[in-house]
Amino acid sequence: MSGSHQKRILTGDRPTGPLHLGHYVGSLQNRVRLQHRYDTFIIVADVQTLSTNFDHPENLPADVRQVALDNLAVGLDPDSASIFVQSMVPQIAELTVYFSMFITVNRLKHNPTIKTEAGQYGFEDNMTYGFLGYPVSQAADILFCRADLVPVGEDQLPVVEVSRFTARRFNELYDTVFPEPEGLSGDTARLVGLDGQAKMSKSLGNCIYLSDTTEAVRTKVMSAVTDPARIHRDDPGHPEICTIFSYHCAFNGGESADIGERCRAGTIGCVACKKRMVQVIEELLEPIRMRRAEFQRPGMVDEILMAGTERARTEGGRTMDMVRMAMHIDYFEERDRQ
Ligand code: TRP
Repeated sequence: MSGSHQKRILTGDRPTGPLHLGHYVGSLQNRVRLQHRYDTFIIVADVQTLSTNFDHPENLPADVRQVALDNLAVGLDPDSASIFVQSMVPQIAELTVYFSMFITVNRLKHNPTIKTEAGQYGFEDNMTYGFLGYPVSQAADILFCRADLVPVGEDQLPVVEVSRFTARRFNELYDTVFPEPEGLSGDTARLVGLDGQAKMSKSLGNCIYLSDTTEAVRTKVMSAVTDPARIHRDDPGHPEICTIFSYHCAFNGGESADIGERCRAGTIGCVACKKRMVQVIEELLEPIRMRRAEFQRPGMVDEILMAGTERARTEGGRTMDMVRMAMHIDYFEERDRQ
């Protein structure tokens, strides 16, 4: 169902490898929950991947399909959500050019997400035009279908802010074409890594992937960092600094208060607490594994991506008609200018 009066969601991921539990709590969970209430578009942002991986394009064909499959496996229904490939929707590239005329370099340089990521990649003193401009390109990702809502992890909210500004500024300069899209982040602001680092992240190698096997989940959880002050099983623990406790809060809400108390009292040991976590994650991943197996039939993901891309191009065409008219660059269109 994709009634034109229905509000729209646009969100998505960079295809840089498999998605993990951090993506799940930050954005995937909201996508799945909201997909029937909103007309949903999911972008596989391959062009954005090139903003850091331009020298490694050879991984894209596999990674694009992997990310699409991860989205399908968590429960996005291709009948309600259009999953598409960024580079195959030319209107996104066109919009990026027009938006780049009025977004200033200073706004991008001072964007908190750009600053943090530039630090992570070592780009501070020397970044490409494309990397600095990725929030502009992301504004085009969001606005090409005139989206209203953007479910993202908390670290992406400043980038969504650029989209909001872009929509406002465009409407003010030319004509009202775009809604001002709202960012929406998950209940768990940020998922810590298995090693206790602030963020679960592929480049830090501290992730549980949605595609991990039972064995991998068990090994990773059992060797995760907990409270270093707890040496003996009945030492009183400090759940507030424990990685595994934070996972109980994120994935095992009902039980987490009780587990926290027992940890503090020294009546549940780390091993028992971790074993319970393995069960909880397995309950979450098992249906994901089953859906993954269904969508893994040869050609199925490609067909879904092609159909989604077709729909995105149609919608992009509609938006570009409005944009050209608003910007007075629809030179050969018949219309009345009253
Ligand atoms: N920047 C997002 C990330 O790194 C991925 C992304 C690309 C995106 N285009 C988007 C997210 C549009 C939301 C909307 O995770």
